[in-house]
Amino acid sequence: MKMCKAAARSLAVAGVFCAAALAVAALALPNLFPFLDSSGFVSTYSSTGSFSENGPFFQSLGTNGRTCSTCHVISNAMGLSAAHAEAVYEATKGRDPLFAAVDGAVCPIAAPGQALNFSLLRHNGLIRIGLTLPSTLQFTITAVHDPYGCALETDPSTGEQTVSVYRRPLPATNLGFLSAVMWDGRETVSPLNSASTFAANLLTDLSHQALDATEDHAQATTPPTTAQLNQIVSFELGLNSAQEIDFQAGLLNAEGANGGAQFLSTVPFYPGINDSLGPPSQFSPNVFTIYSNWMHSGDAYRRSVARGEQIFNTMPLTITNVRGLNDALGQAVINGTCTTCHDTPAVGDHSLAVPLEIGTSRAVNYETDPTIQAAVSQLSMPDLPVFQIVCNAGPDTGEVTYTSDPGKALLTGLCTDVGRGKGLILRGLAARAPYFHNGAAATLDEVVDFYNVRFQMNLTPQQEQDLINFLKTL
Ligand code: HEC
Ligand code: HEC
Repeated sequence: MKMCKAAARSLAVAGVFCAAALAVAALALPNLFPFLDSSGFVSTYSSTGSFSENGPFFQSLGTNGRTCSTCHVISNAMGLSAAHAEAVYEATKGRDPLFAAVDGAVCPIAAPGQALNFSLLRHNGLIRIGLTLPSTLQFTITAVHDPYGCALETDPSTGEQTVSVYRRPLPATNLGFLSAVMWDGRETVSPLNSASTFAANLLTDLSHQALDATEDHAQATTPPTTAQLNQIVSFELGLNSAQEIDFQAGLLNAEGANGGAQFLSTVPFYPGINDSLGPPSQFSPNVFTIYSNWMHSGDAYRRSVARGEQIFNTMPLTITNVRGLNDALGQAVINGTCTTCHDTPAVGDHSLAVPLEIGTSRAVNYETDPTIQAAVSQLSMPDLPVFQIVCNAGPDTGEVTYTSDPGKALLTGLCTDVGRGKGLILRGLAARAPYFHNGAAATLDEVVDFYNVRFQMNLTPQQEQDLINFLKTL
């Protein structure tokens, strides 16, 4: 019931629910146990029948006291909201293992005479990820804005350069729908690109991920056992999380709707199941149909959610300057929809691994593309380091990009990968603000404002509200 204590600290109501659950079952939460979030209740469905806290996912396997559930919190749809991080900080005066120097602080070593700084974790839910650059790079990288003094560090003995980027914990749930593991795909050690190998490769990837997480986040000096890794992976793979109840729309599976985590657990998936970039016959833009039965509901708010779903599926977007898409297809302008990128049915990540740069890491003060600059201005960008990347090899030679997160390029060293990361799963959103890999959108309103400008949607205020209302119910 550790997470109940954590939830209770921030949310009185969750505390009441947790107390009730304690009376029912001491060691496991019943399936679909509701947790209060910003617009209703979120819940998690486990294929084992209950959410048991007995396994190694909840055990300290390293040296700093952290468990997987330190950052993957059930009341936050197995992610970590900034509000939760701040509540834990307040309740423990920063002594909770979440605030380990290694990646909880903006820099693991404090500036002389200063205390460790946890501002990005407390206010934006961001964890520092230190990535060592490959030895061969097509570009030069320099930090032009370095607010914390460890944006780019060079090892004096090896000359290796390490870049610090700051990313949100991605939810450890709904994992059976992944086509890439981690925002930059670095844990996709076996590709998730075919139906026949999907199940086995996903196990390999998640097991590798759990090993690295134990060594990096939990600072383990001895690796977890194979049995522990297997238990962690089978536990997390059995989970589906989604918004269950919306304060205004009510039960999200009422009146023929298919919201909620239990339905989600029945949704089929294999890589490429709905490929927006493949042959037209293999793609339906109607990625979400869970609220279509609400189109003619007697309830005005439910009709708004259903309209929001339709906007998501069909509203025209003018997609320009997206690295990984416009350049890859050789089309300066792509007339698409939200589902051009979010194409996995009922889930919304990309059903094949297609890392993209939509501009969420661009720095407003350095940006030269007026559309991207106007879009990023809609966001509450945290104070992140800014890197200047000058491409000096290959077809993009001469191109200069300013970004707070070079994304996949940190792994490959290629200019074409600068800023690229995966499209994210869009479930349980209301429980885990802020949004985008770097927490740049404080709210779903900001997400929609960003897209409205970025892809010239010209949404009316009503359409904007419908889309927001829909996203809240996922
Ligand atoms: C200190 C916080 C922290 C801890 C502890 C932690 N994680 Fe994470 N987790 C993250 C962050 C941050 C990311 C995203 C990193 C990125 O995209 O580069 C992540 C990503 C993931 C993902 C990828 C999901 C996806 O959509 O690609 C999985 C799975 C996951 N973690 C499982 C675990 C497991 C299992 C453990 C325990 C062994 C664990 N995590 C411990 C912060 C944490
Ligand atoms: C050109 C591709 C593309 C289009 C079009 C697109 N998205 Fe995204 N979306 C992405 C990518 C890539 C990310 C991850 C970006 C990041 O983390 O910085 C993302 C992230 C998101 C997130 C954040 C999820 C989270 O967990 O933080 C939301 C919400 C979202 N998109 C909604 C939408 C909506 C609504 C539309 C249509 C108005 C849309 N997207 C159109 C590619 C796209």
